[in-house]
Amino acid sequence: MIKIEIDNIYNLDCIEGMKFIPDSFVDLIITDPPFAIDFKAKKENYNRKSERVIEGYNEIPKQLYYDFTIQWMSQAFRVLKETGSMFVFSGWNNLKDILNAIDALGFITVNHIIWKYQFGVVTKRKFVTSHYHCLYVCKNEKKRKFFPYARFTPDAKDNDGTSLHYKDKEDVWFIKREYWAGSVKTPTKLPAELITKILLYTSEKGDIVLDPFLGSGQVALVAKSLERHYIGFEIVKEYYEFAAKRLNENNYKIKDFKNFEEDNSKSMINLFKLLDVG
Ligand SMILES: C[S@@+](CC[C@H](N)C(=O)[O-])C[C@H]1O[C@@H](n2cnc3c(N)ncnc32)[C@H](O)[C@@H]1O
Repeated sequence: MIKIEIDNIYNLDCIEGMKFIPDSFVDLIITDPPFAIDFKAKKENYNRKSERVIEGYNEIPKQLYYDFTIQWMSQAFRVLKETGSMFVFSGWNNLKDILNAIDALGFITVNHIIWKYQFGVVTKRKFVTSHYHCLYVCKNEKKRKFFPYARFTPDAKDNDGTSLHYKDKEDVWFIKREYWAGSVKTPTKLPAELITKILLYTSEKGDIVLDPFLGSGQVALVAKSLERHYIGFEIVKEYYEFAAKRLNENNYKIKDFKNFEEDNSKSMINLFKLLDVG
């Protein structure tokens, strides 16, 4: 029996770990599960050197993906409060398994968001993928939290007179990926700006935010910086240790993880100044 504590992360298979979270305990789930696309952590592409990418990454065979999704998502359903929401990121390849699991488990789909990032991997014989899907779902449509003016007041406008509030609430989000040149990284990570947007619209200070698939720990880190509580799981030891170090030391970027040298000693208060998002 493991006692799951808030503001803690665990080096566990989330399907096992979530069993120790009480029913209706979590306010918000933001997660980016493996996509079952035979992903390799060290694979290089034209704009990324692999030497600072931490090895590991637990991928799921395609034929097991639906069952895997049902297993983690049924735990997610159980631990989520009636007032809560869940955001699940997915590539297009196995999106149908995610959508079918959402329906099969009784989640209600609120929005199907498209996250468009600046550019994808160049392809010769097909179009370049430069988006992810993000499924915004809940258990109770009437009770879920949503704060429509969390980021812009109703009358805020840009220089062209377009409503910033309206623009921000469209379901296509253009947010740049973060490139961490010179810092240690895990192979995929959600930009802090994306997580911030979700947190501000659908949670309050003091809420409990869960990420069953932590990777580098981005969701927990940004939740902490916005005064939310966090719980998370990561099955790969090195990724877990990387996320734990970032959280324990309030350190967004780390130059040399193996030698435990500090990139800087800035606190989370300065988190957003450290981001290289445009
Ligand atoms: C797409 S990545 C998440 C990236 C993360 N959102 C970030 O911003 O860094 C998925 C992560 O889930 C982990 N993972 C795969 N299966 C898992 C399981 N059963 N339990 C916990 N973590 C798992 C992988 O090792 C990988 O780090």
